[in-house]
Amino acid sequence: MTANLLAHAAHLFCCGIACSGAYNRTLTPFGFQNKYRKLWDATATYVERSPFMSANKIRKPVLLIHGEEDCDQGTLTMQSDPFFNTLKGHGALSPSDSSL
Ligand SMILES: *[C@@H]1O[C@H](CO)[C@@H](O)[C@H](O)[C@H]1NC(C)=O
Repeated sequence: MTANLLAHAAHLFCCGIACSGAYNRTLTPFGFQNKYRKLWDATATYVERSPFMSANKIRKPVLLIHGEEDCDQGTLTMQSDPFFNTLKGHGALSPSDSSL
């Protein structure tokens, strides 16, 4: 939700902290957010709600936090690394960048 808000309603926030995010909704193909629609029945919804697909719109600072055991509801840690790299690919800086 944090990532989607920073992409679609960035004027409301100066930054965000995303915990255990699900950035690629196709990885939970049998539903998310307590809706049991299936990926194959609502492909466009899955794509639209995946922050990956709007990562290019995120310009505000965001801290991504993801614990190794945060695996409930499909928020596998494997989602955060690619999302982090996607944000970097669109110009986001990370704390390890010397320019910060
Ligand atoms: C999202 O997950 C699907 C598998 O469900 C994979 O094929 C696709 O490459 C992933 N997209 C990204 C941007 O990681």
